[in-house]
Amino acid sequence: MTTPHMNEAEARARIATLREEIARHNHQYYVLAQPTISDRDYDTLYKNLQAIEQAFPALITPDSPTQRVGGEPLKEFRRVRHLAPMLSLEKRESLHELGLFETDVRRKVPDFQPDYIVEPKIDGVSISVHYVDGVFALGATRGDGEAGDDITANLRTIRDIPLRLPFEGAPPKRLELRGEAYMIEADRIALNEGLRAQGDKTFANTRNATAGSLKQLDPRIVAQRRLHAVFYSLGALDGIAFDSHTEELETLRQLGVPIPQLWFKASGMPAAEARARELKEREAELPYEIDGCVIKIDDNAMCSRLGLKTNVPAYAVAYKRPEWFSEATTTLKDIVVQVGRTGVLSPVAEVETVFLEGTNISRITLHNAEEIKRKDIRIGDTVVIKRAGRVIPAVVRVVDDRRTGRERPFAMPERCPSCGSLAMRRKLSDGEASEVALRCENAACPAQQARQIEYFAARGGLNIEGLGEIVADKLVARGLARSPFALFMLTLEQLATLNLGTEDEPRIFGEKNAVRVLTALIDARSAPLNKWIQALGLPSVGESTAIALASAHDSLDAIARSEKLKRIVELAGLKEDVKRANPRSRANKGKPAPELGALDAEHKRLLARVEELKHAIANDGLGSEVGPAVAAEILTFFESDRGRELLHNVRALELHATAAPAPVAANASSPFFGKTVVVTGTLQNFSREAAHEALRKHGAKVADSVSKKTDYLVVGAEAGSKLAKAQQLGIAILDEAAFAKLLG
Ligand code: IVH
Repeated sequence: MTTPHMNEAEARARIATLREEIARHNHQYYVLAQPTISDRDYDTLYKNLQAIEQAFPALITPDSPTQRVGGEPLKEFRRVRHLAPMLSLEKRESLHELGLFETDVRRKVPDFQPDYIVEPKIDGVSISVHYVDGVFALGATRGDGEAGDDITANLRTIRDIPLRLPFEGAPPKRLELRGEAYMIEADRIALNEGLRAQGDKTFANTRNATAGSLKQLDPRIVAQRRLHAVFYSLGALDGIAFDSHTEELETLRQLGVPIPQLWFKASGMPAAEARARELKEREAELPYEIDGCVIKIDDNAMCSRLGLKTNVPAYAVAYKRPEWFSEATTTLKDIVVQVGRTGVLSPVAEVETVFLEGTNISRITLHNAEEIKRKDIRIGDTVVIKRAGRVIPAVVRVVDDRRTGRERPFAMPERCPSCGSLAMRRKLSDGEASEVALRCENAACPAQQARQIEYFAARGGLNIEGLGEIVADKLVARGLARSPFALFMLTLEQLATLNLGTEDEPRIFGEKNAVRVLTALIDARSAPLNKWIQALGLPSVGESTAIALASAHDSLDAIARSEKLKRIVELAGLKEDVKRANPRSRANKGKPAPELGALDAEHKRLLARVEELKHAIANDGLGSEVGPAVAAEILTFFESDRGRELLHNVRALELHATAAPAPVAANASSPFFGKTVVVTGTLQNFSREAAHEALRKHGAKVADSVSKKTDYLVVGAEAGSKLAKAQQLGIAILDEAAFAKLLG
């Protein structure tokens, strides 16, 4: 960076503008997750500021964004007394108990009909931040509520916290914000990976990770920890006053202070309680974990009048319904191994049944052996479970001090538990490393066959109602069907007499169910091609790819020999060749003229072919949906034994698969028009297919996985890793209500 030529007054003015601009972009990026400039442009602004400050060190002030990165390590934290105590809240667990709270209020203020504010109760670490004359001046922990640690240098590194509040007129002498520091789950996992690599202790949850980070004496370490903050209340004030909590929140928001994204005003306790439930249901929209809601009286004059009840406020309560507690402790009785449709073996924990967030949980997937090792999970352990991302149940950690010494470590079996063949790890395409997953590679494995049949008949596939997990298992076990194709040979009698139970305790499928399944199978023959593609489970082909393939081809045979797919693969391969043949490339430097001449001719020929392919691919209309890796995988699959057999079976069936539904002309004014949307979890009022169809009608591109290109993630119940990823990437998240509203 060149040293700027300016005098001190010019430098002062330029510094002020740059700081203001950087603060604005910080807010856009960290608080709103809507950056309006590129990282590069941001870096340029930052470096400009740094350069001017270096040239004029006297102008450096603590509120400069360059001062966030962390100063010298401290020897210990200074203790600070809070100007007003940091209180805790009384807990209520039901509408009835909330009613008693209101009765108490009326005893002190008869006839008062309170409006309430309902907010999330953020499960982070309490902090207090003072602004003196509008400038960040002091940050402290809660401590014992009366006095805490001065962690100013650590809090300064949190980009969510403004270093200066942009008041329009004169700033108040003092404004104290109270709130919570937190970390998001994905950042904790990344942090732990680094700590583990260094042999340091890891953090069991985001709260510990936050507390541990804020306790660091070296602010430079804190600066690397990706902490966040959110504020929900005020402490000591001087030169500013508010009539209501609503006004406080609105003002903070306008000043660029992060406040809870979801908060509600409600008249009367029953309405407030309903809002609290709504908030809890929409928890997934929030980036932090919550441990309930806080219900506060909105009117500040009333709050002062109500005052304290011994040492808790009489104007606010924490509301936590017992069924909301997202963690439960249970015993891990056993670990069994399941075989999936593609042969992957996955360990599943069988736990003593526990009730957690509305459902009974007795089986929890442990994903793979690595995870079991990482968390040191043993059979017989007491484990803490949780619905990860408030969704799929997962084992969070083992309760170490409950270990008796009789727990048994688990090892993945050497053989497939279903067919007994040796389990293997596939080599990755580089031929060196292997997949994490162990697989059964036996194509005749009964478990794999049953899962393929189940997948074929599932909702996303051909939707054969009545044909689920158990029927699939029994069809395979009784030798009646070993592949989805064999379903079409079943007779009414075979199906109707199928025993789903045991010899001793038979449970017969029955004629009515059998007729239902056979009718659905007849319909399936004329199902749209995309449904067939999906039901057959081609590698790396999800719903969107299936639709794209189906609209560009008229049969599975056509896909198997697709010139369109071949062109996509060829183009990707050519790009390397073009580089190699470029006579001006560094690798070809200094080569003799005749050789360069030949290269040049080759280079021109290749470039022409690239143009030709690009043009053809654009016309084919597949290139935007199917990348070269997936295209190659599909073509390779159809050349494999399994793929050839599949084609043979499809031909024998004489399918009348209909064309994929024609795209509908979408209305360009829809909020989804031209957007890339992913749907995850279970929605109440839409099947997954219906949600996708609605989105397509609105001109959205429906994708299977979350990436930087995703515009919206629609979340239903039991959303999992996609939600976590979207939060990490700062992608807009819509719950079902918001989704339905945007669809109109
Ligand atoms: S208000 C006088 N609002 O919960 C009112 N507290 O047990 C003081 N907390 O120490 C707190 N989210 O650290 C309030 N939206 C919220 C909150 C919240 C989390 C924490 C806070 C407090 C504890 C109360």
